[in-house]
Amino acid sequence: MLKILKQVDLTPYTTLKIGAKAAYFAVIKEENELKEAIVFARLHDLPIFVLGGGSNLLISRPLKALVLKNELKGVSVIKESRSAVWVEARSGEWWSSLVYFTVERGWGGAENLYYVPGTVGAAPVQNIGAYGVELKDSFFSLRALDLKTGKEKVFTVKDCAFAYRDSIFKNKYKGRYFITSLVLKLSKHPVLHLDYGDIRVKLSEQGIKKPNIKQLAEIIRQIRDSKLPNPSLLANAGSFFKNPEISFTNFKKLQKKFPEIKSFPASKANLLKIPAGWLIEGAGFKGKRFGQIGMYEKQALILVNYGGASVKQALAHINRVQKAVFKKFGVKIEPEVNII
Ligand code: EPU
Repeated sequence: MLKILKQVDLTPYTTLKIGAKAAYFAVIKEENELKEAIVFARLHDLPIFVLGGGSNLLISRPLKALVLKNELKGVSVIKESRSAVWVEARSGEWWSSLVYFTVERGWGGAENLYYVPGTVGAAPVQNIGAYGVELKDSFFSLRALDLKTGKEKVFTVKDCAFAYRDSIFKNKYKGRYFITSLVLKLSKHPVLHLDYGDIRVKLSEQGIKKPNIKQLAEIIRQIRDSKLPNPSLLANAGSFFKNPEISFTNFKKLQKKFPEIKSFPASKANLLKIPAGWLIEGAGFKGKRFGQIGMYEKQALILVNYGGASVKQALAHINRVQKAVFKKFGVKIEPEVNII
């Protein structure tokens, strides 16, 4: 029998530790509980909000909804061929536990995404990405329950419309599905992605010439550790803003004024991606505290709650940073974190 609680504070369920109350709240450990929850929501005319690891979330208002904390667990191999392995994980599993499972066995595809915080179910929603790799690169399929009809649907890569930190679950199907499991297709003879940032530097520092999957995952863990704050020690939600994409013409104009500006390939050939961290640092916000809130001292893209920051303070700071970046560079930066 599903236990539904009333008026539950969601602050502890987010890694940014900023939140508000949910009118109704339940923990989902089995799929039949999910079906019960759908019936309850329908009877009480409540929207459903799915909570994963809360690592990419800023809850800015009380939720008149049934909030479901996803704790569907389990990882298993469902198919194997000579060159590939299909691994299925239930959506409440920690993303990094799934990556650990694959890395330990030497199966390649997800290792650059090691230590990305959050659950398996949240990974496809925003097509998580790090160190030159995105979820979509090893994604095979996912199963989801339609929260309106209670029916199950299988999504393939094409169905998900993956893009930079984006998918159909953030757009057309926002709030419509509860993702129950994910299948990754991993390679037994993987090609490693070593070209992003400091990966090669770190490898050579440690005298590793031809890394295996496990060694690469360990390097990724070390690089992340040196730049990104551990959410259990310092409340944060990872990159707070997306890296903006601008036209070549705008880029050239900016480059004249700021010759040191960096750029990366973008989603379209006529655009360039520029690092929001660099823009925020340039606008003077890196490591600068405004009461209990600020942008992290080692990576300006990360909004940090030093303890007890309020929704109001956080929203004011986000606005302040956006305005200052626009004033200095004429570039709009948009939150990557889901603000609800
Ligand atoms: N930079 C600065 N100042 C800063 C931060 C960065 O000048 O304070 C410059 C760096 O020098 C570098 C460039 O910006 O040249 C890019 O920095 P970095 O490699 O650290 O990556 P990022 O663009 O800041 C993105 C993802 C991260 C992911 C890293 C590594 C987004 C919004 N963020 O950050 O993802 O871990 O690349 O692949 O795309 C997340 O989504 O939560 C996240 C942490």
